[in-house]
Amino acid sequence: MTSSTDGPILVIGAAGCIGAQVVANLVRDGGTPVVFDIAEDRRRLHLMMNPDAADAVAWVAGDIREPDLLKDVMSDHKISGIVHLAALQVPFCNADPVRGAQVNVVGQVNVFEAARALGIRGLAYASSVAALPPEDEKWPSTLYGAFKMADEAIADVYWRNWQVPSIGIRPHTVYGPGRDQGVTAAPTKAMLAAASGQRFAIPFDGPIMLQHTVEVADAFIRAARAGVVSTEFGGAHVCDLCGADTTIGEVVAAIGAVAPDAQIRIDGDPLPFVSGLDDSALRDLVGDWPRIDLAGGVAQTIDAFKDLLARGLLETGDAYRDPLGQGHHAPYDA
Ligand SMILES: NC(=O)c1ccc[n+]([C@@H]2O[C@H](COP(=O)([O-])OP(=O)(O)OC[C@H]3O[C@@H](n4cnc5c(N)ncnc54)[C@H](O)[C@@H]3O)[C@@H](O)[C@H]2O)c1
Repeated sequence: MTSSTDGPILVIGAAGCIGAQVVANLVRDGGTPVVFDIAEDRRRLHLMMNPDAADAVAWVAGDIREPDLLKDVMSDHKISGIVHLAALQVPFCNADPVRGAQVNVVGQVNVFEAARALGIRGLAYASSVAALPPEDEKWPSTLYGAFKMADEAIADVYWRNWQVPSIGIRPHTVYGPGRDQGVTAAPTKAMLAAASGQRFAIPFDGPIMLQHTVEVADAFIRAARAGVVSTEFGGAHVCDLCGADTTIGEVVAAIGAVAPDAQIRIDGDPLPFVSGLDDSALRDLVGDWPRIDLAGGVAQTIDAFKDLLARGLLETGDAYRDPLGQGHHAPYDA
């Protein structure tokens, strides 16, 4: 856990789902987050933490594609560690591959370059399970996955050439308040629908590795602190993250156990996800963090949604909105 003697942690991409939770967890543990994001949008922070604390977080609105700005922010705020989460997701990379490469790949170089220049040794960044090639294939199947694979290679070169240590974490499918966009947000949206008494159809079936945002954020914070707390720490590590190795059928059952009146159905074929990943390598590297099992995570998420709906921070219709335009989460006809 963060200790109050640590310097500030720069959370790059903290307007997003995982980043907002990283900020909330850092504040929970007495740490000092500084946010760097292209958008000054505290909406997700407000879903996860006390509103006054959310408004008090230091926030620099800037573009990760600008290397000098990143260096200045790290220097001005005396940053000791970095959690780098900024990225364009699959649909945006498909729609604008050049911008995708600039943000997801050049952005990674800019972060590592700044860490190298300033001697920052605590660096955790998000890769993705999408960086892994499908079975019997040599390369990832999406540009997004190719960019993430390049990010892992970039981290490795920065360690071998310039001894910038890092840990890349490959989340699979993150759920919890704040997970509101993309196809795999459907399990979270089903929980929101259940909390508000609405029907919902999850548009895919099959195995899934679901990771609660609070647990994912704790893992990233531990990874960023590894190089801060130990001068011995070295290497360019890349680790999987598991959470609950489960199925969509079990997720629907877990929702039903918390909200017996929930009307959630499965309406699609299995997605080509990997399962059976193991995060013991990351736990061995950075120490254990609290696990959130499926039953506990679903209960926590539905409770949080009920509270957020009651406080007017979410609306029932939010279960069917998707900023990425993956709009097939509409309520099904009874
Ligand atoms: N959510 C998941 O299930 C999941 C799974 C695997 C990997 N990941 C990876 O984890 C990281 C965080 O995921 P998320 O779901 O929180 O993503 P997100 O899309 O919610 O957040 C990404 C953030 O990056 C910011 N950003 C985009 N372009 C920027 C730029 N040019 N400069 C500065 N900031 C910029 C966005 O404003 C946004 O706040 C990403 O790298 C993502 O690829 C997420």
